[in-house]
Amino acid sequence: MNLVQSLLILPGMMVSMVVGVVYSHDYGDALSKSILFFEGQRSGKLPPNQRMTWRKDSALQDGLQVDLTGGYYDAGDNVKFNFPMAFSTTMLAWSVLEFGKTMGSDQKHALDAIRWATDYFLKATSIPGYVFTQVGDPHSDHNCWERPEDMDTNRTPYSVSKQFPGSEVSAEIAAALAASSMAFRPSDAGYSARLLKRATMVFEFADKYKGSYNGSLGPWVCPFYCDFSGYEDELLWGAAWLFRATKATYYWNYVVNNIHDLEKYSIIKNVNGVSYTGGSFAEFGWDSKHAGINVLVSRIMENSPSSGPFVQNADKFVCSLLPDSPTKLVSYSPGGLLFKLGGSNLQHATALSFLLVVYSRYLKQTDRVIHCGDVIVNRYRLIQFARDQVDYILGSNPLNMSYMVGYGKNFPKRIHHRASSLPSIDKHPRHIDCKGGSSYFESNNPNPNLLTGAVVGGPDIKDSYADSRADFVHSEPTTYINAPFVGLLAYFKSNASP
Ligand SMILES: *[C@@H]1O[C@H](CO)[C@@H](O)[C@H](O)[C@H]1NC(C)=O
Ligand SMILES: *[C@@H]1O[C@H](CO)[C@@H](O)[C@H](O)[C@H]1NC(C)=O
Repeated sequence: MNLVQSLLILPGMMVSMVVGVVYSHDYGDALSKSILFFEGQRSGKLPPNQRMTWRKDSALQDGLQVDLTGGYYDAGDNVKFNFPMAFSTTMLAWSVLEFGKTMGSDQKHALDAIRWATDYFLKATSIPGYVFTQVGDPHSDHNCWERPEDMDTNRTPYSVSKQFPGSEVSAEIAAALAASSMAFRPSDAGYSARLLKRATMVFEFADKYKGSYNGSLGPWVCPFYCDFSGYEDELLWGAAWLFRATKATYYWNYVVNNIHDLEKYSIIKNVNGVSYTGGSFAEFGWDSKHAGINVLVSRIMENSPSSGPFVQNADKFVCSLLPDSPTKLVSYSPGGLLFKLGGSNLQHATALSFLLVVYSRYLKQTDRVIHCGDVIVNRYRLIQFARDQVDYILGSNPLNMSYMVGYGKNFPKRIHHRASSLPSIDKHPRHIDCKGGSSYFESNNPNPNLLTGAVVGGPDIKDSYADSRADFVHSEPTTYINAPFVGLLAYFKSNASP
């Protein structure tokens, strides 16, 4: 009897010990929080089911003659920058398309997060021949430390037109609308069709009137979300998403016929304007879509063998990342976090890891391995890489620090975020003006409002983190750090064991 009992207990103990090591993070909890973050970034009239209740209605007059209320504040400020907002929306939609089935009850919240942006983009593209690209004068906004609910800075709407084109921002909005139309197809066919119709119109405008919004809007988009890497990549990215959404040969031919446009960018600038000589295949973020195009097109081609440079370039991208690859182009901190030049580093860790997980699924379909020189890389290695980055962000790092607000025991307390750092309207209903917020900015106290789920720029390359509000390079959250993280967390929630 005793022997039987101990035999029964022993395997159970072994399992729980293994489980204790494997399930080091609660990916489901982190997933819920990563989506909740987007409620804290909402602009406009908040709905009755708003869960982040310390935020209130804001910017209800945006747009003057055209209604441009809604959408997202992109980071710790109160400007609506449509270029990065559209990229974040595309990545949220891609997250739902790849991993939505494993999100459980959070899939509904993820779709709400997408719709908050797409409703706004439908407004921003409602006048044929124009695309609104931004609301809010970034210079006056950045000069103030003010709650969005109190804003009294200039809410200038900016747009591009046939005469003053902006193909990067227009084509990225087209990509966002096309990807989102697929995300809504199973649950809301009417809305999905509206998004897709608008996506085709906006893409046509972006392609017919070619140019960068730098040209006409330079002083208001630079140095904030200046287009450093040209607009050709967004046109291809938009066409690839439209092909996936419509299956129309027109878009497939567009991608195949124009892909070589990207090759002229053997030296490009990365998202922070830092010159980057690694080759365009290695870059992916709100400005450069190159690696994303190759991975997305490789996935689309699933069964037809390669006819273009896509798979080859996607393989080169993988080899540009892995620490043991002889053609590695990125750096690593001693604790193992991926680094690229410029600020807001965790955007690279999340967006690049997302691509690797998606690409690993492609390798599974074709049962293929990648050769990085002598190093042979299989799909499990890509998943392992992405998991290491995700675990680092959630707290498996030398400081034992989670870089997601509200996740784990130790997380950033003084994030560079106006709404989070000023008292809520509930606690302090009286108006706080432009400079009235300075004492809160300078204070060493923790932020009074928890922006749950926000992932900040992250530690420096020595794995240190100052947790200082003034140090925006490290302490500011952005929508484009979180959006690909949503997909990664959904994947690891249902694939928690290696
Ligand atoms: C946009 O402006 C920046 C800064 O002036 C410049 O470095 C960049 O090359 C411009 N991009 C394009 C596509 O013209
Ligand atoms: C982090 O946690 C590990 C394991 O619990 C511990 O050994 C280490 O001292 C901790 N490091 C810091 C900086 O707290």
